[in-house]
Amino acid sequence: MTQTSEQATGGYSLESPTVNALWSRKYLLFLHNVTAVFDGFTALDIDDIGIRHNELRVVIGPNGAGKSTLCDVITGKTRPTTGSVYFDGEEITRLSDAEIVRRGIGRKFQTPALFDSLTVYENMELSLPGPKGIFSALFATRRKVEQDRIMALLERVKLADNVNTEARFLSHGQRQWLAISTLILSDPRLLLIDEPAAGLTDAETELTAELLLELRDKHTLIVIEHDMDFVRQLDSPVTVLCDGKVMTEGTMDEVRRNEEVIEAYLGR
Ligand SMILES: Nc1ncnc2c1ncn2[C@@H]1O[C@H](COP(=O)(O)OP(=O)(O)OP(=O)(O)O)[C@@H](O)[C@H]1O
Ligand SMILES: [Mg+2]
Repeated sequence: MTQTSEQATGGYSLESPTVNALWSRKYLLFLHNVTAVFDGFTALDIDDIGIRHNELRVVIGPNGAGKSTLCDVITGKTRPTTGSVYFDGEEITRLSDAEIVRRGIGRKFQTPALFDSLTVYENMELSLPGPKGIFSALFATRRKVEQDRIMALLERVKLADNVNTEARFLSHGQRQWLAISTLILSDPRLLLIDEPAAGLTDAETELTAELLLELRDKHTLIVIEHDMDFVRQLDSPVTVLCDGKVMTEGTMDEVRRNEEVIEAYLGR
């Protein structure tokens, strides 16, 4: 099911503005001929990947397959050696990481970046977008709206009883949820979530899957994951990366039946 740009664009070049406009109606994010080469080593070599609006796409692959590098390239942390990344109909390949965040791409790293000595609530407050000026006339109203929003999110991830807990006292699962919640506060159109279920208990994994599926209403998501039980719960389209390349794409069942995948990834 690997899709070529010819299929995606009806045989026309992505460089054409008309084709680009037509194509961008279909995909929120599109990577075309993207490579990332480090000291002669090709970590990523993607022909085409297209992520539709409000899709949840799972990316799996063995250690070193290029999953995190894929996220680095999308978010501008790593500049691709060749190729183009398009987001919402515009090329973002050469934009700075800060500009890419501003355009609406958010990311949760493998190890969540939280302020350990601040409370759960303070971590959320710091992630609010926009000016934090306390002298604004609108401040009181805005503050109430923001407080409600923060509490609703914390409620959903079962952290409402922990608002005053310093982040360093949270469990591993709670840290993952807090990191995802801080990300949602800035309302990114595309969320990249690197290994949300690593090291979680079964119950925590289940809540994380539910949460990510709910987010599809308002966001598009790319979820990088190792944990197969978790991927099965997400029941979403899967892209398999191996040696930096797209090995196959399909449903979890299709992917699991693919001989190449079984050999390279599942190891049986
Ligand atoms: N900045 C870099 N410089 C040199 N090599 C790199 C760099 N970033 C990644 N690599 C290499 O590229 C390959 C892909 O790494 P990447 O971190 O993307 O894999 P991954 O699929 O995320 O693996 P994991 O499952 O272990 O997180 C690895 O061989 C890695 O060593
Ligand atoms: Mg990784």
